Amino acid sequence: MNEPISISTWSFGIIAARAVVKAFREGKSVLDAVIAGAQAVEDDPSVTSVGYGGLGNSIGTVSLDAAVMDGKTLDCGAVAGVENIRHVASLAKLVAEKTPHILLVGKGAEWFALQNGYPLQTLLTPETVALWEKNAHQMKVAEPWTHDTVTVLGRDAQGNLAGACTTSGLSYKLPGRVGDSPIIGSGLYVDNEAGAAGATGVGEEIIRIVGAQFMVEQMRQGKTAQEACELAAKRHHITAKRRGKTPVSVAFIAIDREGSVGAAVTTHSAQFQYAVTRGEQIEMFQGKVVIEG
Ligand code: GLY
Repeated sequence: MNEPISISTWSFGIIAARAVVKAFREGKSVLDAVIAGAQAVEDDPSVTSVGYGGLGNSIGTVSLDAAVMDGKTLDCGAVAGVENIRHVASLAKLVAEKTPHILLVGKGAEWFALQNGYPLQTLLTPETVALWEKNAHQMKVAEPWTHDTVTVLGRDAQGNLAGACTTSGLSYKLPGRVGDSPIIGSGLYVDNEAGAAGATGVGEEIIRIVGAQFMVEQMRQGKTAQEACELAAKRHHITAKRRGKTPVSVAFIAIDREGSVGAAVTTHSAQFQYAVTRGEQIEMFQGKVVIEG
């Protein structure tokens, strides 16, 4: 039997990785294991780009986006622009389970959370209020090392795939701005018959290339997870060049049907680390930098 595996974005992927290992040990499904990983990061206020302790938008409000997808059934759910609810990855799962819809936004998503017993909570911390006040006049987006989405992909011992992603999005974003994370196919896509893929970084550029679905289709056609990630990074460079723009920081992760993992990042500016679990083992890696299309 294969060991369960997972891959989680950024250095704080280690927080997710520990929770995923624990969840698999407890016999949770691969979907619940990746959500447990995402939720562990949502709960950690030291991560200023996810959940509790996420940085505010241009008017200082923390607004969260999340998505989940089950590769066996293709069930998926997402929420966007959610305020005062911390556990948006599990909320995205409830959208998939309890509604005929895939994406709930803003007040509707918050109402749905309250109906399902989620508490209203402040997502700001004294540290993020101070950070916001220091930087808001410049409307600076978060530095690469302070962001971004935690995307967690997993594969269980039977080869079932699942993914979850959760983020407060670009800091100092315009109110109402939604990135790639809750857009199924952009920030996340999972299909047992092809692979699991997710993204992190500047959401607008991930949406432009429909990054996660692009990678899954590459794997469907026989590419490895690593090849699919590198092709997505190249796709961003090609797109940026065609538009006369400078490439931005975007990173991709994937797991293919055989259980190989992959990761690639588009610029040197982001020190893109990721965590991989195999059974009880957790290892950190540096994403391969792909700088040309
Ligand atoms: N990748 C997260 C965002 O752009 O919102």
